[in-house]
Amino acid sequence: MEPTIVRLTSPTTDVIVRCQPFAEILYWGPHLSGFMPEDVLTLSRAVPNGRLDVDTPLTLAAESGRGLFGSPGVEGHRDGYDWSPVFTTSEITHQDNQLLILAEDPQAGLQLRSELQLDSASGVLKMRHTLINHHAARYWVNRLALTLPLPERAGEVMAFHGRWIREFQPHRITLEHGGYLQENRRGRSSHEYFPGMMVGSRGFSEQQGEVWGIHLGWSGNHRLRADVKTDGRRLLQAEALYLPGEQELEGGASLSTPWLYAASSRTGLNALSQQFHRYVRQNILRFPDHRPRPVHLNTWEGIYFDHQPEYIMQMATKSAELGVERFIIDDGWFRGRDHDRAALGDWYLDEKKYPNGLAPVIEHVKQLGMEFGIWVEPEMINPDSDLFRAHPDWVLGLPGYQQPTGRFQYVLDLCNPQVFEYLLERMNWLLSNHDIDYIKWDMNREIVQPAHLGRASLTAQTEQFYRLLDSLRERFPQVEFESCASGGGRIDFEVLQRCHRFWTSDNNDALERQTIQRGMSYFFPPEVMGSHIGNRQCHATERQHSIGFRGLTALFGHMGIELDPVKEGDTEQLGFVRYVALHKSLRPLLHSGDVIRIDHHDPSTQINGVVAPGQERAVILVSQLTMPNHQLPGNLRIPGLRPDARYRITLLDTPPLIHQQQGGHTMRQLPAWMKQPCDVSGEWLAQVGLALPVLDPESAMLIGLEQL
Ligand code: DGJ
Repeated sequence: MEPTIVRLTSPTTDVIVRCQPFAEILYWGPHLSGFMPEDVLTLSRAVPNGRLDVDTPLTLAAESGRGLFGSPGVEGHRDGYDWSPVFTTSEITHQDNQLLILAEDPQAGLQLRSELQLDSASGVLKMRHTLINHHAARYWVNRLALTLPLPERAGEVMAFHGRWIREFQPHRITLEHGGYLQENRRGRSSHEYFPGMMVGSRGFSEQQGEVWGIHLGWSGNHRLRADVKTDGRRLLQAEALYLPGEQELEGGASLSTPWLYAASSRTGLNALSQQFHRYVRQNILRFPDHRPRPVHLNTWEGIYFDHQPEYIMQMATKSAELGVERFIIDDGWFRGRDHDRAALGDWYLDEKKYPNGLAPVIEHVKQLGMEFGIWVEPEMINPDSDLFRAHPDWVLGLPGYQQPTGRFQYVLDLCNPQVFEYLLERMNWLLSNHDIDYIKWDMNREIVQPAHLGRASLTAQTEQFYRLLDSLRERFPQVEFESCASGGGRIDFEVLQRCHRFWTSDNNDALERQTIQRGMSYFFPPEVMGSHIGNRQCHATERQHSIGFRGLTALFGHMGIELDPVKEGDTEQLGFVRYVALHKSLRPLLHSGDVIRIDHHDPSTQINGVVAPGQERAVILVSQLTMPNHQLPGNLRIPGLRPDARYRITLLDTPPLIHQQQGGHTMRQLPAWMKQPCDVSGEWLAQVGLALPVLDPESAMLIGLEQL
């Protein structure tokens, strides 16, 4: 039988799969215009001397039983047997851009079901495997991974490291021999290792180079690998990381991988991100009615645990005056929660703080025309809580060991039905008895020894978290949820199926936010990226920033303010009003357009922007992070506009750039386009550009472009 060749195709991307003897992706990359199935003949490989006498296809399961010697896609056993399966395709279903391949190993008693779906609109490929145990005896799964091939010229990895208050930091590794392995064992998507990476031609940048990117939609532990085999072939592999004994399949039972999302580009990282963003907007986000995302005021860095309803109402009044559209009461509203060492788990209103209940505050907020939101952290428990005193056995952990606390708290065992029911009942109480539009769902610690009744249970714990959120969303479809885990600790596509936005980081320092938000923008569009104007002196770093730099940095996300507006002086308040209004005027563009990150020769200048889908408008932020390298910063070239159209350039916001009678400042004379209206073509902007002014470190300017 001739092997079946299947092509999934979209205007941006093609995927070509040879389905026999088992599925092998022959090509994954930019769209091919004249492909014929017989073209794949050119890919029939040589068999070199000195190794196996047969060709070994790099299949979707990378089977070691075929002689692949690398990291296999299925690792498991049946009491020591059936540990090296080799799959043969038994059924192929190809419809539109969806491919389902069933493959069997009758000897090992296993079936592998591989689903590949290419989204025509975005070009994103979505894949998962399901392993089914067809024998009566139990099968233990140690690993179940998805494998994607890469071309030999993919020589550089860009992955992300991070930590609390410094998430999404990209780093690069040259891929030559061996490979790069990223493991996350922290029990949530994590601040440390975002479950995504890119591999590309050496030196790929925002606007240049070939790039292939993946993201594993999973909020638990993961393993990602970019490998170079000794024969030079390269691959990406992604999987949920299972703890010992975590996955056992009884006869007939199955296990699915999380969905893996993949995209590729010939023109650098921008095109890759735009595909992921398009995919998220069209297929993942469930934002009610696509209405504008309301500007937030979050109380946390304003009042922390000091909740006084009268004062909170004053904060709400002031917030409404500033243009805020949603007011959120953060941590501190429930019984005994006067500091972060007690009360998590006791989800009852603190009647000492709120003797008349929450209703007067909520009514006040609503009368001001704002929505109301509130903070919860359901998965957690403080040892100093009534819940812990009543149910110390509800804690997630291995019996017989002492669990370390994290932020003075333990995690609850969501696989315990009593725990699950308790949390559902308490959240149900909160949402049924109060007029709440929005829940900030926090998760402030890592998980050590996750176990239910002694057995490892991190995957099940993660699935129970999804189930809890799903149950609440079903009961309260009008309520929006934010995924927060000490800021950016749980950010991924799977949790985004269940929430509306992320709290990006606990760090509101505008300088740090510039890199954190840029890192997050590789995968996520601006509208899901919570970005707040924080206090002038940042609480996370003690650094001080002008309202201009803070306002412009917060502008490019789902904007909010996080401080006590009542205590702020006139200059700050005028700034809040200005940047909230600016955000609202640009919001339709920012939350629907194509994100661009612009390559610039001097890394001290960071430039990003958004271009309207029809290219008739754009907004560009030029941020000076540190001292510029040269006295003149050079030209800003703006890609993505219509080459033959003419655009009016407008300065939307700038810091004071020339200080008369002061020495030592940056400039004597501004570039001409900043002083008089200037119209140029999209081609000129892309190829030649605008002379930039000299900016001070930790300041930014905003440029608007409007087609004439
Ligand atoms: C961590 C969150 O990221 C903060 O924004 C705040 O909600 C605190 N937790 C409250 O405990």
